Amino acid sequence: MKILVTGGLGYIGSHTVVELQAAGFEVVIVDNLSNTHIEVLDKIEKISGIRPSFFEFDLADRTACSNFFKKENNIDGIIHFAAYKAVGESVEKPLMYYHNNIGSLINIMENMEQYAIQNIVFSSSCTVYGQPDKLPVDEKAPRKPALSPYGNTKQIAEDIIRDTVYSSAIKSIALRYFNPVGAHHTSLIGELPLGIPNNLLPFITQTAAGIRKQLNVFGDDYNTPDGTPIRDYIHVVDLAKAHVVAVKRMIDNKTKLNFETFNIGTGNGYSVLEVIKSFEKVSKIKLNYKIVGRREGDVEQVWADTSFANNELGWKAERSLDEMTLSAWNFQKQLDKN
Ligand code: UFG
Repeated sequence: MKILVTGGLGYIGSHTVVELQAAGFEVVIVDNLSNTHIEVLDKIEKISGIRPSFFEFDLADRTACSNFFKKENNIDGIIHFAAYKAVGESVEKPLMYYHNNIGSLINIMENMEQYAIQNIVFSSSCTVYGQPDKLPVDEKAPRKPALSPYGNTKQIAEDIIRDTVYSSAIKSIALRYFNPVGAHHTSLIGELPLGIPNNLLPFITQTAAGIRKQLNVFGDDYNTPDGTPIRDYIHVVDLAKAHVVAVKRMIDNKTKLNFETFNIGTGNGYSVLEVIKSFEKVSKIKLNYKIVGRREGDVEQVWADTSFANNELGWKAERSLDEMTLSAWNFQKQLDKN
């Protein structure tokens, strides 16, 4: 079985490629290297012993995309990660986000129709729920107006998929990720943001490593037990495994609807201060952090009701918060060594 993984050299993509290979799938990667490095391909090979085929081009380029599918259309399923994901940047450059995130999806789905490729797993996000009215949030909760162009691309992409599966043979599963963190246990792959990190965990590890002077904690006046926002952090390897389960479900014709959505989280919410405490415990480092003002656009608290994914997919996140922070720290140390 051959799976195309777009964005397969990125953070979640690379971990998913490794899990697909371990499950016996042949993997083809397309990545334009806009937010990663080619060396990740070597790291994947080092972990699995198998070098996936790799094509470097931009999926938003219609001609390049159709040239690719002309040659590589004996594909059993697609996992589509390739997208821009920085919330702040999307506010500055909305057209760049719509062009890339929406354009690439349309190009891929047009080729799926043309070459009768039936299965696509889509990277969605809990951002579609905004601040939910009820916690934990389940898949039936209404989507809230997006707070950024990035968030809007996830909603629009879900809508495009929903409309397309209605009138074609394509089936899709959208996985709504909560907050992916951590790294592979080999420390060969992990989260490697280019430039200053936006997300909490890489900012913590870079601060501990001395690359950043101080972590700013964005607000401690929220209506939560310690005043800092709460998220459902999920280990990237657990998240990667959810993709393997989802793609198998489609290939084995086990889907119940042509478009299914699943929450992919642990079901546990942790505050920013709890994440810092976990990091300090596993690394034995006192983190230099300071409480500052709120960051615009942050929701107060969100964690997943994962019962639908647990029962229907037969998948469950297994790794603890300490395993997440420790693996992120081990990856950072490995990077510094090199
Ligand atoms: N945080 C800090 N300091 C930092 C970075 C983050 O205090 O330097 C806090 C944030 O305020 C938030 C928590 O850590 O409370 C988590 O922030 P992240 O940026 O790591 O994650 P978000 O929950 O903001 O982002 C996630 C996904 C995005 C998605 C967004 C939508 O990573 O892809 O949810 O809300 F768009």
